[in-house]
Amino acid sequence: MAILVTGGAGYIGSHTARLLRELGRDVVVLDSLERGYKDAVGDIDLVVGDIADARLVGKTCRKYDVDSVIHFAAYKAVGESVSDPLRYYQNNVAGSIALVEALLEHDVKQIVFSSSAAVYGTPDASPVNEDAPLRPQSPYAQTKADIEKFLESCDVLGMRSVSLRYFNAAGAHDSGDMGEDWSATENLVPVVMKVLFGAQRELDVFGDDYPTPDGTCVRDYVHVSDLADAHVKALDYLASGGASLVCNVGTGQGTSVRQLISVAESVAGRALPHRVAPRRAGDPAAVYADPTLMRAVRGWRATRDLREIIASAYRWHERHPDGYER
Ligand code: UD1
Repeated sequence: MAILVTGGAGYIGSHTARLLRELGRDVVVLDSLERGYKDAVGDIDLVVGDIADARLVGKTCRKYDVDSVIHFAAYKAVGESVSDPLRYYQNNVAGSIALVEALLEHDVKQIVFSSSAAVYGTPDASPVNEDAPLRPQSPYAQTKADIEKFLESCDVLGMRSVSLRYFNAAGAHDSGDMGEDWSATENLVPVVMKVLFGAQRELDVFGDDYPTPDGTCVRDYVHVSDLADAHVKALDYLASGGASLVCNVGTGQGTSVRQLISVAESVAGRALPHRVAPRRAGDPAAVYADPTLMRAVRGWRATRDLREIIASAYRWHERHPDGYER
């Protein structure tokens, strides 16, 4: 019996596949390698192809005796989703529908789905729990909300699912040999790393006049290895007969951009050049999770703090200044 990890060559997917392997589970990765990296998969079996390729999904399910799936494969760039919505709906939504159809045909009925706190848009208040209204503010976020709903509807077909709404994934594997590709993202932690390692001159702090304690935006940064662990616990929850669920995955702890800068400076032992820039359109002032529900899923909790997030990311970039090889 194996676990199929779609998008297992991507950032969170590769950390999850590695953790499953470390736990002695059978894993197979399905990834198109369009945006993922072969090197991130290591020696785990990799099937190169598309989630929408029903024949390939079927063949993989049979060959590896797949009984459950963790579905990461998706595009995730907010800005690109605005300029190219067709691509996002096609790949994320249509791709997921095709995947689920192929899985059902092969009697694979347990799926953990990679969703995002982006489905909340600008929440009325934080901490935000799963009952908060969904107000996706980009086609990207809408595709995540759509797939959640689609999976909910598939319950009637016997497909049980856990959709994990990640807050701000960051950090890298303890080993220092797996991490995030900073060329492909504009998220805060990779940008901070670019500045620390001289690939960008300074950090633009997007606004310091928000209604937060120090005026900069507050987010919930969760270590990628804690996220990986959430997927394993969600799988085990489904394997033990758990009902479908939608769950936040965050620490419950809010951190401002300024606080993060100060931890980064302390880890690096040098100043982080930065300046205050105008607000970025669409940025909510404060978003952090109420993680209570996820704690009930096999006792999950985040075990790594912000310092470990920054220190692990620093280690990865120090050892791999050019990231993975294409
Ligand atoms: C991110 C993702 C979103 C994901 C969500 C999970 C983007 C644009 N958004 O949102 O898809 O689902 O996490 O909750 O990829 N910042 C700076 N300077 C920078 C970069 C960021 O000041 O150069 C600030 C931002 O204003 C924000 C915070 O840092 O307040 C975090 O930004 P970012 O890492 O982009 O994540 P989110 O916008 O929270």
